[in-house]
Amino acid sequence: LFAGIQDAPLDPIMRLFEAFNADTRPGKLNLAIGVYTDADGKVPRLRAVQEAEKRWIDKALPKTYRPIEGTKPFRDAVQELLFGEGAKILTENRAATLQSVGGTGALKIGADVLAKLKPGATVAVSDPTWENHRALFTQAGFTVTDYPYFNAETGGADYPAMRAALETLPAGSIVVLHACCHNPTGADLTAEEWADLVPLMQQRGLVPFLDIAYQGFGIDLDADAEPVRLFAQSGQEFFVASSFSKSFSLYGERVGALTIVAADPAMRAKVEALAKRLVRWSYSNPITHGAAIVEIVLTDKALRADWEKELGQMRERIQEMRVRMADSLHQRHPDRGFEAIKVQKGMFSYTGLTPDEAVRLRDQHEVYALETGRVCVAAINTHNIDRVVDAIDAAVKG
Ligand code: LMR
Repeated sequence: LFAGIQDAPLDPIMRLFEAFNADTRPGKLNLAIGVYTDADGKVPRLRAVQEAEKRWIDKALPKTYRPIEGTKPFRDAVQELLFGEGAKILTENRAATLQSVGGTGALKIGADVLAKLKPGATVAVSDPTWENHRALFTQAGFTVTDYPYFNAETGGADYPAMRAALETLPAGSIVVLHACCHNPTGADLTAEEWADLVPLMQQRGLVPFLDIAYQGFGIDLDADAEPVRLFAQSGQEFFVASSFSKSFSLYGERVGALTIVAADPAMRAKVEALAKRLVRWSYSNPITHGAAIVEIVLTDKALRADWEKELGQMRERIQEMRVRMADSLHQRHPDRGFEAIKVQKGMFSYTGLTPDEAVRLRDQHEVYALETGRVCVAAINTHNIDRVVDAIDAAVKG
């Protein structure tokens, strides 16, 4: 039965996740995966999350099936987070939101919906992008291409090159966009560039699929969602994949949401029905626990305020580490462009480390980074930063 099976290696993030877990060296440090750890190097249990969890457990509700699309308060809260309080689209009834199995599940169901509607369409992802984007859309049957995105000279996004490439895509192509905190580079488009991109997508008949896995880690919850809001205001039809893994520090609970914006309520109802059917055929119903926690936090004024505060503190702590890391590395290697780490946003930075340097970092210094040079700044703290800087310095020197 299995004789003809081909090798099926995991993507580099999960390969290193497994290698890290199996590594017995006591000083090992994982900067390869996107997980935020606090000042003491621990994955935090957020205060609001702990309180919501207590309230949920105290209710001792029966563990029945959750609606395929998730509960209404959860879906409303997701939409409010994406589109902003009082946004016109919330009353227009054009947006369908379905709870998903993390951000990956949202991308997967969204890709399946698109595969039914636009079989044979091209999907364009940024070069570089999160390892799983290409795989998810390829598995859904699409041909995946890429558009230039990163400017290695400046450490920022190369919008002119991206724009020029999008202009050549055939109408009906699907374009995957990182709403904020670009993974893996940390290089985001400016507000002016988004303002230019949104009408361009509309004019060219391209289908936007926004991935927003790090809302709150860039500038703040509202500013990070601004690209989603611009698309909503433009009247376009588009897709959004939300993840609550990082913003609620609920990685293992797999809470996310897929939002599909249609032209009118009738179309919304149709596409929602299709998405529900595809969920039913994939995993039937979503999980309860994590989504209930997110729902409680987002719908309780005090818990929500406390969550926003703690999220802001996580963001500021990452920013402090960015500045320290960029300054120290730039001082030692002024020609390597390490200063960009300071202005990049979110949990990651593209450090410009070569594959050989990343391997040395891992093998000789017990610090895991992706061989593309992506480093998770969110796992650096005041206790390990000197060691990280020294290790990168040594790895660069060879
Ligand atoms: C990452 O990019 O490291 C995270 O989003 C974790 C993952 O699932 O790859």
